[in-house]
Amino acid sequence: MNVLGINSVYHESAAALLVDGELVAAVEEERFNRIKHGKEADFDNAHQLPERAIRFCLSHAGLTAKDIDHVAFSFDPRLRRTRYRAEWWDPRLEETFGLRLGQVCGVAEELLGRRLRQRFHFVPHHLAHAASAFFPSGFDRAAILTIDGIGETAGSTLARAEGQRIRTVDTFEYPHSLGFLWEVFSGYLGFSHYDASKVMGLAAYGNPGVFHHKFESILRVGKEDYAIAPAFIGFQPDKFDRLDAMFGPGRYVDSEILPRHADVAAALQEATNAAVMALVRRLKRKVPFDKLCLAGGVALNCVTNEVVRQSGEFSDVFIPSAPHDASTAVGAALVVHCARQKRPAQRGYSTPYLGPAFNRREILAAVKSAGLTPRRSKSPAREAADMIADGKIVAWFQGRMEFGPRALGNRSLLADPRRPDMRQILNQKVKHREDFRPFAPSVMAEHADEWFEVGVHLASHEFMLFAPAVRTGWRDRIPAVVHQDGTARVQLVSRKSNPRFHELISCFFARTGVPLVVNTSFNDSEPIVCTPTDAIVTFRKSGIDALFMEDVCLTAQS
Ligand SMILES: [Fe+2]
Repeated sequence: MNVLGINSVYHESAAALLVDGELVAAVEEERFNRIKHGKEADFDNAHQLPERAIRFCLSHAGLTAKDIDHVAFSFDPRLRRTRYRAEWWDPRLEETFGLRLGQVCGVAEELLGRRLRQRFHFVPHHLAHAASAFFPSGFDRAAILTIDGIGETAGSTLARAEGQRIRTVDTFEYPHSLGFLWEVFSGYLGFSHYDASKVMGLAAYGNPGVFHHKFESILRVGKEDYAIAPAFIGFQPDKFDRLDAMFGPGRYVDSEILPRHADVAAALQEATNAAVMALVRRLKRKVPFDKLCLAGGVALNCVTNEVVRQSGEFSDVFIPSAPHDASTAVGAALVVHCARQKRPAQRGYSTPYLGPAFNRREILAAVKSAGLTPRRSKSPAREAADMIADGKIVAWFQGRMEFGPRALGNRSLLADPRRPDMRQILNQKVKHREDFRPFAPSVMAEHADEWFEVGVHLASHEFMLFAPAVRTGWRDRIPAVVHQDGTARVQLVSRKSNPRFHELISCFFARTGVPLVVNTSFNDSEPIVCTPTDAIVTFRKSGIDALFMEDVCLTAQS
């Protein structure tokens, strides 16, 4: 049975394909159409399906549209209608939204060139999030916490899962949305509403105590619950005026960041940690299992994730590589598979490497059409490691592209973590991002404990989703990856999960005695590169010193 999962309701448009319950492909539309997040998160475009992501999933599996048994869409308009709360919504926008959702099945039929009718399924958004975390976790049973902007009407959902069954145990309905709160503060602090990660990075420079008490009137946290004052989020036109009055004028885009702005970010981060921990305690009481799955866009907050992990409330924590909306394409397909098929869905398969790969012939064709001269490297890992140790920026392109917002060694830019100026060099030559933002390290899993306070190694440590402290004795050795607060958003790399990337870091270790490299996504203010041509375009327009695509090497002189 082949189930196609689709997300296009808000942002991170994506498609995923299950073949007999096994996840064979998952990819975000942005990597193909080169529009960040796939499309704008508007009220009038839920029917814009991730067409190219869908076509990739089918071609990867060697299937055509007629082979698709079911299509799963990660939002349920009926739930939105039944729980509709007029006082919180703008009815005009809601009407457009509903209209577009009504068109989704028709658009899918047109795209696939066949009637779907009973084969098209709307899956509740937070159920899709929960499934996307639970099944890949491999846990037999688990408590699940989904936190995002909004599902149909809920901002946070607590659930329990056992075997093939996931059941909601509690919800925190809109306006109690931590995801929306971060969007609002991103705007107030002069970033786009997608820039929660910038706010998280900025928080490390601030003092949460400065605005702690004021913040309580926005986000109140109890022992096992939280509440958000509606005046500060959603459609409230004067929400920024209120924030200006409380914290001083908001920051204009690209203007100077003041200490006050960092203090606001720090108060938000602190309150978020507290709110999520309140939910974790509530969940633990209601679902007395010892494993936890986290899902939803807020699960990209590696500082909060680290607080949850260190709390010890649960012995194991799993977060998928794409906990934001992209994973709901996977989760929706899993939900439909479980409902339609007696055969259990695949469990414990959590690889992020689910996108397109390109063979040598395709890579050479792209190099040739760009008019460049390729060189074959006998030992790409060793050669790349030596270049990194010599202070070069190396682009590393291999295998299947990552699913999720982090480059995890297959579409990565790599550099030397020992150089204090590397953050600045990367920003000047390629990344063009704010200097306060940290870069992350990828470390050989077998050496991680010597350098970072990782604790028990978790599957999700391979996805850059936790921010443990760097051990104090080592901070001066790797200044390029230590954040202001002494932490690092580390990726553990094992020989099993990514042998070629592991080999590269091993070579760097052999040469330098440091078992880690700087790893940032291979892009420059655009979606992460997907194809060899994307890689070459970014390589040529930036200051990257060398590009390795499998064993094909290009240097600035090529
Ligand atoms: Fe979501």
